[in-house]
Amino acid sequence: MTVKIAPSILSADFARLGEEVRAIDNAGGDWIHIDVMDGHFVPNLTIGPAVIKALRPHTARPFDVHLMINPAQPFIEDYAKAGADYITVHAEADLHIDRSLQLIRSLGKKAGLSLNPATPENVLEYLLDRLDLILVMSVNPGFGGQSFIESQVEKVARIRKMIGDRPIELEVDGGVTAEIAPRLIKAGATAFVAGSAVFKTPDYAGNIAALRGI
Ligand code: DX5
Ligand code: ZN
Repeated sequence: MTVKIAPSILSADFARLGEEVRAIDNAGGDWIHIDVMDGHFVPNLTIGPAVIKALRPHTARPFDVHLMINPAQPFIEDYAKAGADYITVHAEADLHIDRSLQLIRSLGKKAGLSLNPATPENVLEYLLDRLDLILVMSVNPGFGGQSFIESQVEKVARIRKMIGDRPIELEVDGGVTAEIAPRLIKAGATAFVAGSAVFKTPDYAGNIAALRGI
């Protein structure tokens, strides 16, 4: 099985977002990773549902929407309507994660849960059957271009064991490079988010292929 690559448009040229989304689609990106930040849960502010809605006609690829907002629950429906396919909330930003995950699925979307680097994986234990995706943060969320936090490789391996044969995607986000990718695949990751590693040069297709290890 080939690992999925979800280029993060946080590293794209914001003045040409539609064009950038089409370019990563043509370059073979599997999902479009969209980082939503509120300036409160994380120290940065990015985009909201209006921009996601405007980008929707530019690609048929799934939108992998990463909500770094607190609270998330009151806004989930807005992101579903804007065209998200995966909606991921943070374990640290929601008092009622179980309810949020149920809400995401009730809107016909795939439900994701993200864990910050310091959050232990046991928070997943009673939620596994509500999850379509687990997003392991391998940087502290807020910015692209940070360095990969090594301890998260072991967390990925532990989560892989917890997942068993459930059809849950195990995605890693932050500081992923072509050098680090093979170890994460070995640990059981099925998808990578990549911002700087994809957008660092104009050869998006080459950069995506390098992350896949081809
Ligand atoms: C960080 C975001 C990431 C970020 C990844 O808070 O969640 O998706 O864009 O960018 P790189 O790959 O540059 O670390
Ligand atoms: Zn992200």
